[in-house]
Amino acid sequence: PAPDGRPAPGTDFPRVQPNTRDAVVIPEGYEQGIVIRWGDPVLPGAPEFDFGKQTAAAQEKQFGFNCDFAAVLPLDHFGLVNLLVTNHEYTSENFMFTGYDEDNPTEEQVRIAWAAHGLSVVMVTRPFHSGHLRPRMSPFNRRITLHTPFRVTGPAAGSDLLKTPADPSGTLVHGTMNNCAGGVTPWGTILSGEENVNQYFANADLVADETTRRRLARYGIRGKETVRKWERFDSRFDLTKQVNEANRFGWVIELDPHDPNSTPVKHTALGRFKHECANVRVAHDGRVVAYSGDDERFEYIYKFISDKKMKHGDSAHARRHNMTLLDEGTLYVARFTGDSPPAEIDGSGRLPSDGEFDGVGEWIPLAAGKRSFVDGMTAEEVYVFTREAADKVHATKMDRPEDIQAHPRTGRIYCALSNNVERGNPGKEGATEPNPRVNNKHGQVLELEEARGDALALRFSWRLLLVCGDPRSPDTYFAGFPKDQVSPISSPDNVAFDRHGNLWISTDSAGALGINDGLYAVPLEGRRRGDLKLFLTVPKGAETCGPVVQDKIVTVCVQHPGEVDGASADKPVSHWPDGGKSQPRPSVVAVWKPGRHGLSDIGGR
Ligand code: FEO
Ligand code: CA
Ligand code: CA
Ligand code: CA
Repeated sequence: PAPDGRPAPGTDFPRVQPNTRDAVVIPEGYEQGIVIRWGDPVLPGAPEFDFGKQTAAAQEKQFGFNCDFAAVLPLDHFGLVNLLVTNHEYTSENFMFTGYDEDNPTEEQVRIAWAAHGLSVVMVTRPFHSGHLRPRMSPFNRRITLHTPFRVTGPAAGSDLLKTPADPSGTLVHGTMNNCAGGVTPWGTILSGEENVNQYFANADLVADETTRRRLARYGIRGKETVRKWERFDSRFDLTKQVNEANRFGWVIELDPHDPNSTPVKHTALGRFKHECANVRVAHDGRVVAYSGDDERFEYIYKFISDKKMKHGDSAHARRHNMTLLDEGTLYVARFTGDSPPAEIDGSGRLPSDGEFDGVGEWIPLAAGKRSFVDGMTAEEVYVFTREAADKVHATKMDRPEDIQAHPRTGRIYCALSNNVERGNPGKEGATEPNPRVNNKHGQVLELEEARGDALALRFSWRLLLVCGDPRSPDTYFAGFPKDQVSPISSPDNVAFDRHGNLWISTDSAGALGINDGLYAVPLEGRRRGDLKLFLTVPKGAETCGPVVQDKIVTVCVQHPGEVDGASADKPVSHWPDGGKSQPRPSVVAVWKPGRHGLSDIGGR
């Protein structure tokens, strides 16, 4: 049907035009402010950031590098006082230090990098008439780094596969790293996915045992020296010295930001892979379900169903109980079946004759507690080498499953499948109905519906909501909405929902379309379903991460601004956010719309 001119509720903002500016570009009539930048003080005693004089001691008390996931947890009714929790996914040393010698990093540079990883918890407050959240010192403020102790929980805790000379218990890990996206649990804690942890471990090629070497390679852990050379300064990053250290990363962690003295945990029951994130929903009977994607080409989508039920209320007692929910349950992996003749899925991305990329699927059990459902693997092996288990049960290889989250009202699941330029390459799998394009540069967004709308169901139906790219191109699809009216999009990464039920999508690699990354809104119901609208764009070289869409404020993390080929701290191409000749700094940005009485609703009423 030809849509009328009225935008869907929540998307009534002037569309931002795709661009390549060195700025965060927002709709006309809206305002923005920097919430916190790399190096800004988080803990008491932190010095002000000084790019040329950074130290590890300073970095341990300052906001880390490359913010990715963000959660904004209001501590009052109006959202004037909040806790901001962010992941610091990784470090880009050649943008953190001028004159950086990648063959010979100094020990201090490496220690700065350890302190710039992890997470930050920081109180952010705003005045009533502005959305400009700003950091405050508070007893909640906290930095999690590669030195923070984590307790390993769940069925693989204490496994021989997790024991090292430094930790014969197999239950105590120092730090977390490559924390990409995450989720806020219904009980108010933070989940965070340890993603590309392969890049930190050296000398896999020198490991004597062949099975171990094969398993390391299945997780992308290969070669000798690492890019960052951390193994020179801490032997736990050298696999010839502590081979199991790599098994202690690649988990979903849980942090209680309301208790600054709490020990964060690593949940082994959710399996070990390149976790983009984990998002939890509550089933009708009180059990909880967590979804997680393994972000690599040809990897899988997973689901976990807890044994125990959630306790309501925000007492310390309830939270303590709920923080054990992700330790006991069943881990599943997704298998998708298309409903169109395979010949119609020719890799071109053109719609099959039934008009949709769609079909059904099932959740295949991998392990429950100490019980394995996978031939030839113990339960502990399933949890620690989850990719291998999913291979054995013939799960469906997807195009880089990133963020995945259930819609708070409809219960439908949305998953960003970022891209996969290797699909269809010689020796690689070709197009399948859920991954319908070869050389897939721009990705797709999947909509999945559990059978009977039951979160506990083991069967589902699915369809592609978006096949991303340039809407003028015949291999794109926007839920059937007229394509001459939508914004171009490439490489969907994070998803969020607003209170109207619209889906918001942030991107990572829109450079594939020659434009900067951004944040988009798309209605999921009614006549404007598929009307994708660009809300903001981030500076050149940056990725848009961690969108939080509240009624009156949108926040995003601007990760790795200015990181384009050939650029570095010696040759910066971005001066965002500080301007002038400054170095670019990964930062969190807030966007709001001023109104007559305080703030207007984002996207209208
Ligand atoms: Fe760190 Fe999957 O993006
Ligand atoms: Ca079909
Ligand atoms: Ca991501
Ligand atoms: Ca990404």
